Amino acid sequence: MASPQVFKEVVDMRAFSREQRREGKTIGFVPTMGYLHEGHMSLVQAARQQCDVVVASIYINPTQFSKNEDFGVYPRSEAEDLRKLAEAGCAAVFMPASLYHQSGSSSGGSSSADGSMVVGAAEAGDPDAHETWVSVDHLSQGLCAKSRPHFFKGVCTVVTKLFHIVEPDAAFFGRKDYQQWRVIERMVRDLDMAVRVVGMPIQREADGLAMSSRNAMLSTEDRQRSLCISRALTEAREHAVAQAADAATLQQQVAAAIAAGGGRVDYVEVVDAQSLQPLQELPGRQVLIAVAAFFGKVRLIDNVDFEAP
Ligand code: PAJ
Repeated sequence: MASPQVFKEVVDMRAFSREQRREGKTIGFVPTMGYLHEGHMSLVQAARQQCDVVVASIYINPTQFSKNEDFGVYPRSEAEDLRKLAEAGCAAVFMPASLYHQSGSSSGGSSSADGSMVVGAAEAGDPDAHETWVSVDHLSQGLCAKSRPHFFKGVCTVVTKLFHIVEPDAAFFGRKDYQQWRVIERMVRDLDMAVRVVGMPIQREADGLAMSSRNAMLSTEDRQRSLCISRALTEAREHAVAQAADAATLQQQVAAAIAAGGGRVDYVEVVDAQSLQPLQELPGRQVLIAVAAFFGKVRLIDNVDFEAP
């Protein structure tokens, strides 16, 4: 399989995309932060099936991390990633060094008022700094935003930038990051972006753990303990479908099972799968049970969705 073309510069990436479009080809785009696993590769595969040309990006976006998170230690494997993307038939990979204008520091910058890593011009004292942001009001609150208030603003801003650079016809996201997928769907609708957003199912390890680049940072013991998340979610779904359990009971069961399994629960929530608003009455609703929990310093997320009987 031919190696993908690797672009580091915005102009070169855009020129490639425009050339493909001139030739009448559709572009499928898979944005990632690298350290690719089968979850990412399932998105590449779907993009190949649905589009003529696949473009992936690898960029650890500093603005979606706060100062005390794992930006500096986020795992990297550039050569291995490129090998996997070549094997999967990816035509181009966008790997910018930085996507934010900021003179001075290039390592991700200092932190801003909301704790994220790139500062606006005023705080930086830098008249050339990045100071334009994209945010989605309500869907970006709750769930992951409670402990990561800066996160979706960083994600929406970088995904908007990537969409403007790659100009894809369709973009592929995993439902492991369920709230991220819903927020991007809404952003694309609200801002009339000409991109079809596709949400793909969660890929899991054989023992049930949702695949994640962060799994590599788990100790052997925590890797074993973390299985309690997927087990608790599967049991909760079975319970809900078989016995019409209520939301509060499901929430408590999942939280208790994760705590008993050795995790520190960040949140367990039972919400409407579309609006992400908390549910009390489940019957007939599309339900999402979403979880974030720490094992050691590693924060894992997972979810199940189902229609309640
Ligand atoms: P990253 O965590 O690298 O994930 C890239 C894409 O892979 C996301 O759409 C994510 O949902 C998907 N993905 C990760 N694990 C998956 C799994 N087990 N099954 C299916 N899909 C999975 O998400 C990001 O990067 C960033 O926030 C990004 C969108 C690139 C913006 O910086």
